[in-house]
Amino acid sequence: MSIVFDRAAGYYDQTRALPPEQHREMIDALVRAGGITYDSRVLEVGIGTGRIAMSVAEHVRRLYGIDLSREMMGVLRGKLAVRGHAIDLTQANAVWLPFGDETFDVVYAVHVYHLVQSWQAALSDARRVLKPGGSFIVSFHKRQGETPNRKLRRELARLLESYGISTKRPGSQTEDEILTEMEKWNDSLRIVEASRWEQDEVPAVILDELDRQIFSETWMIPRDVMDKIMPRLRDWAEDTFGDLSRPIATEAEARWLVAQKT
Ligand SMILES: C[S@@+](CC[C@H](N)C(=O)[O-])C[C@H]1O[C@@H](n2cnc3c(N)ncnc32)[C@H](O)[C@@H]1O
Repeated sequence: MSIVFDRAAGYYDQTRALPPEQHREMIDALVRAGGITYDSRVLEVGIGTGRIAMSVAEHVRRLYGIDLSREMMGVLRGKLAVRGHAIDLTQANAVWLPFGDETFDVVYAVHVYHLVQSWQAALSDARRVLKPGGSFIVSFHKRQGETPNRKLRRELARLLESYGISTKRPGSQTEDEILTEMEKWNDSLRIVEASRWEQDEVPAVILDELDRQIFSETWMIPRDVMDKIMPRLRDWAEDTFGDLSRPIATEAEARWLVAQKT
C-alpha cells in the first residue's frame, strides 16, 4: 500500500516549497554528494511535481523519474513544456523500479519512503538499480525540537484516537529507521548537511492547513470528524500558544543521507 498523491497535485508546490536560498543549497549539496556530472545517469524515486527534479535537471543531460501519481507527474509535464529540461517520466512503484540492475550513477528520493508500506523493499530496489560505486541519496530533514507544527500534529493525532482514527503513515516512521535499514548494507554511509535556517511558524496557519487537509497524514480523516475535532484543537492551541497569529521562531535543517554502493 502507498498513499496516492493525485489529490495534492494542484496545490503541492504552493505548500511544500523551501525558501529559495535553502532550495539552492539543498540542490548544490545533492549534486556534490552524488558527484553528479552532466553525463551522470540519475533517477529520482517519487519525483512528484518535479519540485527538486527541475533544479537537478539543470545539472544533467537527461534525468529519469518515477512516481505512482499520474497527476503529480502531469504538473511536472506542464513545467517541462515551458522549460525544456530532459526528464524521462514513468509511472511506477518505488518497490518495483522498471530498470535493470546497475543502471544509475545516482538514485535519490525526497519525502517518499514514509508513504510506502514496503519501504524496506523499496530501499533495496533503489540500491539494485545503482551501479557499484554509485550513490543512493535520501532526504534527511530534521525539524528542530518541539515546533508548533509538531505539537499540533501530535495533539490532532491524540484527539483522533477517540474516533479510532490513526494518522500513522504507512511507511517508515522516522528517518532514523531508514538509516538503520541502510546500515545493514555495509555501504559507506554519511550524512551531509545541506542547509540550516530559521523559519517562523504561525499556529493559525498550521491550523488552517490541517483543517484544509492538505497533508497526507490527514487525508484519511472523514470531513465530519475533522469538523468536530478542529474547534477542540483550536482551543488547545490557544491554551498552548496564546495568540494564534503570533509567529514563533523555529530552526529547520535539511540534510542528505548518502550511501555509496560497494
Ligand atoms: C511528498 S511527495 C514528494 C515529491 C517530490 N519528491 C518532492 O520532494 O517534491 C511524495 C511523492 O511520492 C509518490 N509516491 C508515494 N508512494 C509511492 C510509491 N510506492 N512509488 C512511487 N511513488 C510514490 C507520491 O505520488 C508523491 O508524488
